Amino acid sequence: MTNEAVQVHENNCIMLDGQMLTPRPSRYIMVHKPLDTICSNVDEGYPSLFHLINVERAFDLHVAGRLDTDTTGLVLVTDDGRWSYNIITPKKHCEKVYRVGLRDPIVVDVATRFQQGVLLQGEKSLTRPAKLEILGPKDVLLTITEGKFHQVKRMFAAVGNRVVSLHRQKIGEINLDIELGQWRYLTTDEIQSF
Ligand code: URA
Repeated sequence: MTNEAVQVHENNCIMLDGQMLTPRPSRYIMVHKPLDTICSNVDEGYPSLFHLINVERAFDLHVAGRLDTDTTGLVLVTDDGRWSYNIITPKKHCEKVYRVGLRDPIVVDVATRFQQGVLLQGEKSLTRPAKLEILGPKDVLLTITEGKFHQVKRMFAAVGNRVVSLHRQKIGEINLDIELGQWRYLTTDEIQSF
């Protein structure tokens, strides 16, 4: 084969100089993102989250759903684009759970409004049904199944409130269970849950 544009699948048998090449296994990692880090794999104003992951070729990895610089919590990182697609695509309705600190006490009807969908500034369609659990007057859990730009902050702005702290604690069935700034490989069950 001399055409480098030909796509190969991991089941294909590829020979080089008489030797069969074996594909590198994909990697699946969770990171507990600290404040003031960015999810891009190049430093831009703030250091990249990828500096925290001390594996070979960390910069071949990509994140499955970014967090803002001022958001902490669970970030999934992989080099398997088909796997991350299942998490990112709105078609699969993957749940993400955020712990949200608010500027103003939560108003009773917000849970219903989020359940019905709200119109975010600059969008043409309502947000998908979201679940709000009230932990305290200014402390809530929000579960959403999409990942629009700054979605959580814009949802609270749409109901006249403001997010003052934001932390992602769960994606699908995967719970954040490591300390701030740490990372670990996902278990087989976690990988297969998507
Ligand atoms: N929604 C936001 O507004 N910011 C995040 O980082 C994640 C979800």
